[in-house]
Amino acid sequence: MGLGCGGASRLGILTGGTEAAAVGVVERALDLGINLIDTAELYGTEGIVGQAIQGHRRGKVVLSTKKRVFDREKGSVADAKAMELGVERSLRRLKTDVVDIFHAHLVLPDQYAYVRDEIVPALLQLREVGKIRFLGITESFVDDSYHRMLEQALEDDCWDVVMAGFNLLNPSARMNILPVTQERDVGFLNMIAFRQAFGDPGYVRERLEGQDWMGDEPPLGFLTRDPDVESLVEAAYRFSRWEPGVHVVLSGTGNPAHLEANVQAMGKSALGERHLKRLEDLFALIGVKSYL
Ligand SMILES: NC(=O)c1ccc[n+]([C@@H]2O[C@H](COP(=O)([O-])OP(=O)(O)OC[C@H]3O[C@@H](n4cnc5c(N)ncnc54)[C@H](OP(=O)(O)O)[C@@H]3O)[C@@H](O)[C@H]2O)c1
Repeated sequence: MGLGCGGASRLGILTGGTEAAAVGVVERALDLGINLIDTAELYGTEGIVGQAIQGHRRGKVVLSTKKRVFDREKGSVADAKAMELGVERSLRRLKTDVVDIFHAHLVLPDQYAYVRDEIVPALLQLREVGKIRFLGITESFVDDSYHRMLEQALEDDCWDVVMAGFNLLNPSARMNILPVTQERDVGFLNMIAFRQAFGDPGYVRERLEGQDWMGDEPPLGFLTRDPDVESLVEAAYRFSRWEPGVHVVLSGTGNPAHLEANVQAMGKSALGERHLKRLEDLFALIGVKSYL
């Protein structure tokens, strides 16, 4: 399990939490034994992570951060120099002298060639001088739900780590990404294992894309009716945590009670076979359809 400092919560900052409370969430995560923290320039939480890791042994924490190459709002594109400056700024905010995993953030399929040709050489240079240890790349799961960008990236051997969406409503990475990362020994960070929307009947029906609804009320109720399953969020984390090839499941929260519940969830056994089969029947086709 890794602590995600972005997503819908950004350690609680997006939902009205204070910076001090956010520092407390990261410290609590470290105390609970979580040793991978994922942040990004975009999230505005690097400084919070920097404060929180001060009292901990740096060598025990894997720090993952990112910089966007293409900034949609500004309409700008980063070059090699901008990446270098971005890494320097991340190092300052994180109060460290090396980033363990530095990602090109939110890369779309038609942007990948630029990243490979212009940005990767800069990142390799930064690795050479010891500012970063491993190269990573993250997709935009909303725009690229079937991982076309990562399919391209995995044809090159420069990436040590990829970050991809994978969850019980869209397990398509199982088809085209996880087999390759496992074969090539590339790290797989699982983002968006859970979203609040999974509890929204309309959202879940939409994901079924015209398949017959099986009559469950609420959707996914077959999971939460099982006494072995505490909640939908627990089911979602257990689903990801036991998927072969997933190395780290990221969980983002600003709520210490949620953090502790999620640690418990990751420690539980895999979902039962009948649940996995039913999820496969309902949702696995989603990825397959995109290839037809
Ligand atoms: N393209 C990218 O690079 C990219 C995209 C998305 C995410 N990420 C990374 O992946 C991390 C995880 O993102 P994510 O989208 O999976 O998660 P997230 O959006 O950070 O958090 C999941 C949501 O579920 C809630 N939640 C968490 N635990 C809960 C619990 N036990 N009970 C009820 N609600 C709970 C959180 O709210 P509370 O604060 O109320 O708990 C939050 O709204 C991010 O933080 C970020 O580091 C990267």
